[in-house]
Amino acid sequence: MAKINFDFTGKTVLVTGGGSGIGKETALKFAASGANVVVSDVNDAMSVVEEIRDLGGEGSFILCDVSLNDQVRALLEQTLSQYGSLHIACNNAGIEGEQGYSAACSEENFDRVIDVNIKGVWQCMKYEIPHLVDAGGGAIVNLSSIAGLIGFPGLPAYVASKHAVAGLTKTAALEYARENVRVNAVCPGPIMTPMLERIMETTPGFREQITEGVPEHRIGQAAEVADTILYLCSEQAAYITGQCLAIDGGWVAQ
Ligand SMILES: NC(=O)c1ccc[n+]([C@@H]2O[C@H](COP(=O)([O-])OP(=O)(O)OC[C@H]3O[C@@H](n4cnc5c(N)ncnc54)[C@H](O)[C@@H]3O)[C@@H](O)[C@H]2O)c1
Repeated sequence: MAKINFDFTGKTVLVTGGGSGIGKETALKFAASGANVVVSDVNDAMSVVEEIRDLGGEGSFILCDVSLNDQVRALLEQTLSQYGSLHIACNNAGIEGEQGYSAACSEENFDRVIDVNIKGVWQCMKYEIPHLVDAGGGAIVNLSSIAGLIGFPGLPAYVASKHAVAGLTKTAALEYARENVRVNAVCPGPIMTPMLERIMETTPGFREQITEGVPEHRIGQAAEVADTILYLCSEQAAYITGQCLAIDGGWVAQ
């Protein structure tokens, strides 16, 4: 089968939560497609930048907790001072929080999940969008989830946060379409990453339950999500904005 090779040469790409899982895979694929990649994370992710450089690419690490306004503003300032412009952003950083039914969800857990997953995505877009407009246009992909399209018992704050990401995505897409800024979200189903491994560890039978729940009867790979993110940021997707695209082996089609 013919392979699409995306070319992001000369583009600056920011990936939040780029140290692990889907974000790491996305950062590596953008770098392999010619982009200058800023890998940002609340934890040290210098190893991802080293991997990018070992493969002949260009990347930098910037430490940032996306829930903190000052840190997000500084992240964009540093990105601009280093590369001069921003063309693409993947707002991927997110946490699953603690598991438990709605009545058992603590206020602390609820607030943290909302701060990282909703406020984080909003304030990343707040500081990214002016630079995309200055660059003459660009693309943003936010990480929602199939938990942003349907309910999941035991993850009330997470489900609420991912529905909110869909709302933020559609709103920003409408606001900036005339300025050539496209804003989409991806909604992955279960993807094999450290986050899913943590959930599987604490929930007996979860692996069997989700594998059974996916019509393709398999757990997805981070690379499958990253490929879709690159497509949505490419010229081939120039007429796609405001979409929340499930990558889920058919889960939400049921
Ligand atoms: N894995 C899945 O099954 C799945 C499914 C649907 C959606 N998602 C979403 O995809 C995104 C990536 O998930 P993943 O599975 O790769 O998770 P992961 O836990 O492997 O990676 C998440 C990364 O985000 C970083 N991070 C966490 N809090 C942060 C903060 N406050 N500021 C900056 N960085 C922070 C972590 O350090 C980590 O490097 C998340 O938004 C998640 O909700 C994942």
